[in-house]
Amino acid sequence: MDVRIFDSIEELDKEVARLIIGAVKENPSVVLGLSTGNSPVGVYKNLIADHQQNGTPYGQVTTFNLDEYAGLDGESPQSYRYFMNEQLFDHLDIDKAKTHVPSGIGDLEENCREYEQKIQAAGGISIQLIGIGTNGHIAFNEPGTPFDSLTHVAELSQATIDSNAKYFPSPDDIPLRAVSMGIQSIMNAHTVYMVAFGKSKAKAIKEMIEGPVTTALPASVLQRHPSVYVFLDREAASLL
Ligand code: GLP
Repeated sequence: MDVRIFDSIEELDKEVARLIIGAVKENPSVVLGLSTGNSPVGVYKNLIADHQQNGTPYGQVTTFNLDEYAGLDGESPQSYRYFMNEQLFDHLDIDKAKTHVPSGIGDLEENCREYEQKIQAAGGISIQLIGIGTNGHIAFNEPGTPFDSLTHVAELSQATIDSNAKYFPSPDDIPLRAVSMGIQSIMNAHTVYMVAFGKSKAKAIKEMIEGPVTTALPASVLQRHPSVYVFLDREAASLL
């Protein structure tokens, strides 16, 4: 793992965005894996600013998001599709048909199979941007998820439900399940960029980097990936 520590979240966001912009310029039809949550928002802001200032083209770029809540369609403000449109896609010249977020409605098992096939058909993910949950989850792969899992219907842990409650009008509105790329789907990406900042992530980050590789801390599997970059602020890195 290549661990990079930044004095500020702004510098961290700029650097990750610079690398993604470089990848898009080098290969305008690059396949990007994207994520939601608070962690990637600053990176997305930088991608948008660069697109507006320098015109970096996204017309040929394909994207795959990690996950989506079960039962929410893209019109729901809490859905990850809505989030991605609002935080990134609506501000780029990207072809929406080339942006993929798992579907949380209809036959979920079928959606999972189709999603995995679409990733394969696109030639796999070149760069996967991910965050980490305070319990070490990646996407919605909670502790105990098998390392060989592909896109699947995931049950959210209580810790995740609690951390994500702030995004919903009332705790009863939080879906208990999601469609999520699996651990193997993430490991299949050519390169992984993890972004984590803040004290709440410090313990999970320490265990991910220094602890044993165990399904109890799903992100620890990244120790086995040949190309992982971990971008941290000083707080997230404080226990290393
Ligand atoms: C959610 C998402 C993850 C994300 C994590 C951390 O549960 N499914 O993909 O990495 O939360 O979110 P945040 O970046 O808001 O801390």
